[in-house]
Amino acid sequence: MDLLLKSVFQALGKSRAANRLAKKYGLRFGAARFVAGETIQQSIEAVRKLNADGRMATLDHLGEFVFNEEEAEQAADMCILTLEAIAEAGVTSNLSLKMTSLGLDIDRALCVDNMKRILNRARALGNFVRIDMEDYAHCQLSLDVYRELRREYDNVGIVIQAYLFRTEQDVKDLNKWKANLRLVKGAYKESASVAFPEKKDVDDNLKRIIRLHLANGNYTAIASHDEAIIDYTKLLVRELNIDRGAFEFQMLYGICEELQQRLVQEGYRVRIYVPYGIDWFGYFMRRLAERPANVWFVLKNLRRP
Ligand code: FDA
Repeated sequence: MDLLLKSVFQALGKSRAANRLAKKYGLRFGAARFVAGETIQQSIEAVRKLNADGRMATLDHLGEFVFNEEEAEQAADMCILTLEAIAEAGVTSNLSLKMTSLGLDIDRALCVDNMKRILNRARALGNFVRIDMEDYAHCQLSLDVYRELRREYDNVGIVIQAYLFRTEQDVKDLNKWKANLRLVKGAYKESASVAFPEKKDVDDNLKRIIRLHLANGNYTAIASHDEAIIDYTKLLVRELNIDRGAFEFQMLYGICEELQQRLVQEGYRVRIYVPYGIDWFGYFMRRLAERPANVWFVLKNLRRP
């Protein structure tokens, strides 16, 4: 049953028709638990609350499907506005983004130009930009664009997914670039020809790449709500004598709040991924797919306005 629900949510998240429909109706079905709001102002308020108890943030203006150059440029403009709102409000947040929303599927050069506009503004404001990793079909291209940008910018990082077979080699290659990486398990539906089908293998690989990247002396964001992974990291940094300023834990807005706060109290750097915007549907579906038990939460909210 869980597997079936997982596939349904993953397919819905990719459906352009479902995304369009959801956009019309505003944040519904309990999505507000995972999405900070539809406007920049709402997202800044959410960041302010996180900052108040010591949690940093990374803001993501949601938007996944773009069909032409103009839409890609508008998405880049929204990223820049988000960076400016962060600076103006004086909150502690960087920016996360998806390169497909900046035109990666339309034209690589267009996407690179949009990225450079964003990175230039971020650099001027003293901020950092993280490239989210999307499905496997975009993995190689995303890494190629990341390397191209990294030649010119040191305020850019990327995400690596532990469920992919290729990942350990990617982390080794990225060491040459002293890459600032966010390490995750992976959220998309991938074929068994490219990704570990078993959770245990994904977890083991995540531990392997956390060790590898930290031991190489690179800044590492460990993005997981899995206490076994978090405990592993705590022991590892003690074993390798790694400074607490050299890594951070990251979690998603609205998930495992108590754990987020506990880590802050223990003195770790903690950053929360705060998505906002009207394009919330695909993101919401991925969160449901990760944990089909959330479907009860959705059903409870169906009757609310
Ligand atoms: P796991 O799935 O094993 O969950 C461990 C525990 O966490 C669960 O038992 C449950 O208690 C809780 N939990 C996890 N997900 C939950 C949910 N949706 N609702 C409620 N509870 C939940 N992926 C990707 O492919 N590309 C990316 O760029 C990113 N970026 C990213 C940023 C940040 C900050 C985070 C935390 C995660 C991502 N991810 C991602 C998502 C990631 O790949 C993965 O799908 C989720 O983090 C879930 O995996 P966990 O490591 O939490 O472990």
